[in-house]
Amino acid sequence: MAELWDSSLYEDRHSFVWKAGAGVFDLLDPKPGERILDLGCGTGQLTAQIAERGAEVVGLDSSPAMVAQARQNYPKMKFMLADARTFTVEGQFDAVFSNATLHWVLEPEAAILSMSQALRPGGRLALEFGGLGNVARIMAAIEAVLRPAGYKAEHTWYFPAIGEYALLLERHGFRVLLAQNFPRWTKLEHPERGLREWIEMFCGAYFENVPAGVRGPLLREIEERLRPQLYCDGHWFADYRRLRVHAEKIA
Ligand code: BEZ
Repeated sequence: MAELWDSSLYEDRHSFVWKAGAGVFDLLDPKPGERILDLGCGTGQLTAQIAERGAEVVGLDSSPAMVAQARQNYPKMKFMLADARTFTVEGQFDAVFSNATLHWVLEPEAAILSMSQALRPGGRLALEFGGLGNVARIMAAIEAVLRPAGYKAEHTWYFPAIGEYALLLERHGFRVLLAQNFPRWTKLEHPERGLREWIEMFCGAYFENVPAGVRGPLLREIEERLRPQLYCDGHWFADYRRLRVHAEKIA
């Protein structure tokens, strides 16, 4: 599997990803003895918090670098390389938890089928990822700079509306108990380089065909477009909107 992620940069500069997962963790509310999958576990911090509640948890991630770092961080825990669209597991789980992952999966029905197959009847989903309108200002600025410069500027994210995602879940045998789309502007770690580091970490697809030598000036132009909108009190923010979903597999 091709490695797209720099796990050190992720841990060093993007810890807000798992720190901001507290809300969906509360929604999961893991109980002692439950079997739980953490889909898109990254470097394992939320997986470890689930284990601290006494659950038996397995972390899954499609990035070899993330799985390797998670195993190094938490050597006693179980982490496996897995693709959200195709994974299968042995036995049945009580819950699938996923934070900040499913917007990377452009085949949402395949992921829903995999999650369903992993759950026992009555098992639950606690999911949070980018919803409709997520990072809309950042996307608009990137596209407004790259397209006139002659680049295709296409992203590879899936930010569905509540109605779209709830319908997919219902079609595949889930009862949707809660679905929310809410803004959660997120402070980026470095006061001056925060936006640039976020773009460098997460926006590879947009810049695929942009030669390394011209990226700097284009990034500066994107920053200047976004500064009046996303730079506040000495910090950059990403204009996240989260889709948070709680659903149960109909028996
Ligand atoms: C998100 O967590 O919403 C997100 C992260 C990286 C790229 C796009 C969206």
